[in-house]
Amino acid sequence: MTATAAAAPVRGRTFACKVDEVSIGQPRIVAFGRISIGIFQLDDGYAALLNICPHRAGRLCEGPVCGTTRQTDRAEFVYERAGEIVRCAWHGWEFEIRSGKCLVDDRLKAKTFPVEVAGDDLYLELGR
Ligand code: FES
Repeated sequence: MTATAAAAPVRGRTFACKVDEVSIGQPRIVAFGRISIGIFQLDDGYAALLNICPHRAGRLCEGPVCGTTRQTDRAEFVYERAGEIVRCAWHGWEFEIRSGKCLVDDRLKAKTFPVEVAGDDLYLELGR
């Protein structure tokens, strides 16, 4: 994962990076002034999360992209949702990349940003 600085906003959206700078399991961290955002490629598109964990402000997007384990009623754990979760490196809390929803505490949610693909470029809507 590599950090870059982004260009100035254009028509309500802000250029973030080139499509080929993000790959599945390898998010791109982009700085917009003092704000850091992680851009993730998923099976069906892209998602972006503020790089601040809502638990204790760790750098959420720098944790591993992974799946999660679901406990069943048969004393077993089933690994699922591979590639849909980012695990904060500070305390290991898991967040859905698409929604920002915290799997540990449903009162917490990481801030998300819409991602737009235009040719070879990825843009973010930062104003929401
Ligand atoms: S700061 Fe992210 S899990 Fe604690």
